[in-house]
Amino acid sequence: MKVAFFNSKKYDKKSFTERNMQGHELSFFEYQLHEKSALLAQGHDAVCVFVNDRLNKETLSILAEGGTKLIAMRCAGYNNVDLHAAKDLGLTVVRVPTYSPNAVAEHVLALVLSLYRKTPRAYNRVREGNFSLDGLIGCEIHGQTVGVIGIGKIGEIVACIFKGFGCRVLYSDIDESAFLNAQGMEKVDNEQLFNESDIITLHCPLLDATHHIIDSEAIGKMKDDVTIINTSRGGLIDTQAVYEGLKSKKIGHLGIDVYEEKGNLFFEDMSTEIIMDDLFMRLTTFPNVLITGHQAFLTTRALKNIADVTLSNISEFEKTGDCENQVTL
Ligand code: NAI
Repeated sequence: MKVAFFNSKKYDKKSFTERNMQGHELSFFEYQLHEKSALLAQGHDAVCVFVNDRLNKETLSILAEGGTKLIAMRCAGYNNVDLHAAKDLGLTVVRVPTYSPNAVAEHVLALVLSLYRKTPRAYNRVREGNFSLDGLIGCEIHGQTVGVIGIGKIGEIVACIFKGFGCRVLYSDIDESAFLNAQGMEKVDNEQLFNESDIITLHCPLLDATHHIIDSEAIGKMKDDVTIINTSRGGLIDTQAVYEGLKSKKIGHLGIDVYEEKGNLFFEDMSTEIIMDDLFMRLTTFPNVLITGHQAFLTTRALKNIADVTLSNISEFEKTGDCENQVTL
């Protein structure tokens, strides 16, 4: 199949070219996919897109008119696709439901440990020959109560890792996990999770029901000095409310790999630009905030798995017109 990649980075080109045993015809574009760039896909049977491409009705209509039949997401989330419009236009949407939940789960720990042990600050100090320990007093994870919201593939691993650190683990989900219950972890409602957790980590999808699940009301119910970690989707957090929570010292630490307005910032080198998002820039000045640019998934194993599953999704669709990893409404 002829496949147009949007938003493609060097690592995408490398992993997809190396794993393309099926001989698909791959074109790599660095542009983000949106209504203005969609014409580039003309004559391609499929487009391969990522989390920050904008697949609204207009973009999808241009793709369909240009002969595209398949939207192959090289990610798990699909909240950036208008699924109703895709269905109306006869476009099939497929995704990579899982590629390495461990990659994201381990990044949660990287964020918590870096915040708790202040390793970014220590690293910079030592490089400058400053061996003072002032301001480096850390916290321990052992003995903390951790609240995991969403215990799917990633959340379940996160829960087990924290259990291994000697934490009490609470979780909230629309489903119950017999596996986690058997390990002594407790299913609770969000209210109890907010009331009792020292660390709250988000692993549910971004849906209407979960949009701003962390807002000022939720923060008001949390323990003082709470740690909030979001590696899921930016829209789960009301950033303004979290900013206020940091200023009032209600929130002790914030670690985020995703940001509500990241479409305009993340995945690009903005180091020579003036960043216009004042809220984001203010967050970067807090010593107790650690932000990474949506890299939780980015491991060698995950890239290989993403390429393998995406290419096999495309082949399956080419052969059968269907795909087991199809996203349906
Ligand atoms: P999953 O689909 O396996 O699990 C999601 C869980 O959330 C399910 O157990 C579901 O029942 C639960 N859930 C749904 N609605 C809920 C609600 N209202 N309250 C509480 N729980 C609810 O998804 P997976 O693979 O574990 O991924 C979780 C999220 O991580 C994805 O939605 C995606 O946004 C994000 N992600 C981030 C990456 C990164 O690089 N930062 C990479 C991969 C995924």
